[in-house]
Amino acid sequence: MKWTLRRWLVVAGLATGLLACSSMPPDGVGYARSSALPAPPDPPDNPTTPEKAALGKQLFFDKRLSGDGSMACQGCHFRHLGWTDALPLSRKVGGGMNTRHTPTVYNTGYYTAWYWDGRAKTLEGQITAAWKAQIGADPAKATAVIAAVPGYQAGFQKVFGAAPSEENIAKALAAFLRTLNSGEAPWDRYAAGDKTAVSADAAAGAELFTGKAGCAACHRPPLYSDGMFYNVGLEAGKAQPDLGRFAVSKDPADTSAFKTPTLRSVGISGPYFHDGSVASLEEAVRYMAAGGKADPHKSQILIDRKLSEKEIGQLVAFLNTLTSEESFAPPKLP
Ligand code: HEC
Ligand code: HEC
Repeated sequence: MKWTLRRWLVVAGLATGLLACSSMPPDGVGYARSSALPAPPDPPDNPTTPEKAALGKQLFFDKRLSGDGSMACQGCHFRHLGWTDALPLSRKVGGGMNTRHTPTVYNTGYYTAWYWDGRAKTLEGQITAAWKAQIGADPAKATAVIAAVPGYQAGFQKVFGAAPSEENIAKALAAFLRTLNSGEAPWDRYAAGDKTAVSADAAAGAELFTGKAGCAACHRPPLYSDGMFYNVGLEAGKAQPDLGRFAVSKDPADTSAFKTPTLRSVGISGPYFHDGSVASLEEAVRYMAAGGKADPHKSQILIDRKLSEKEIGQLVAFLNTLTSEESFAPPKLP
């Protein structure tokens, strides 16, 4: 019952975005988009503007935001790797290892809960946590470093009418992340009518994905995520299993459940899964299509779909057409 409501909210959120989009001029949110994904909803206290997103983009790429000046947010979220880092697990500033794989930051504006276990309730809150935990910053000290840069002083004045603060640094970063949508993929061109945009195998893979293979039950288009949490068996047999969503909800049914990741741009964001345990996309598809490892808390929707080698190949071909080709230029830092 509970999850049905939450799922409905996610769908309603997307629908609201679509409505807002269709009732506005194409640049109604301030930046032109030809994306298959509508602009994500903004929180009332942090509307996205092009200037704010541009400021956030600079901050995301700026090592001065970190405790020791050694690492920017993009140190683990590289654009050419689908905003991930190609590592199973990554090292934080200060030397500690992450216990979970770096997820993409594409399409994060659409979620209603952040991190693999959904423990962050707002994107701005998630960002402040990453600022401290991943890049080792004392936000007060890092804010003073940013505030001493003349270009940032001018930028923050223009956007917020105020000097850089911990709060508006997080807001600017969130506004930037809300513009990172992987909605310009060959599959989107195909869906819009260009029948030459993908191969016959990829089109067959899409049929399987929403049909016989049952993938779309959780990886719901257009985001290819339903924002929900499922145990897919990856912690089965581990000596110290990661309890995932259970740590947040305390619901035993959520034991070792993790958020359904978006599959947009999944072709360039390996390795895969919350533990980074699977190197190739084909292997990840094979694992999911076979229903995952047995686990008492595994989702009952995930079953062995008994797919042929050819069908696995078609699913992989389809997923590779979800890689977005939107243009992107790195920022010039002040
Ligand atoms: C050292 C590597 C590293 C750095 C640097 C880093 N992150 Fe991350 N990021 C991660 C990992 C690992 C997770 C997942 C952690 C978890 O789920 O427990 C994550 C998760 C996220 C998410 C949530 C995505 C989702 O699907 O819920 C966002 C958004 C994000 N990071 C933004 C940032 C921002 C902004 C910065 C800079 C302040 C940053 N990251 C710096 C490794 C990193
Ligand atoms: C019960 C819901 C559910 C179904 C059905 C499902 N998935 Fe997933 N999928 C998930 C969840 C949850 C994860 C993340 C699991 C984790 O890391 O613990 C995931 C992860 C993935 C990943 C790795 C993505 C990444 O960025 O790490 C791929 C690829 C994937 N699924 C493909 C598929 C395919 C193909 C199918 C159909 C054969 C499918 N999934 C069916 C829920 C589902």
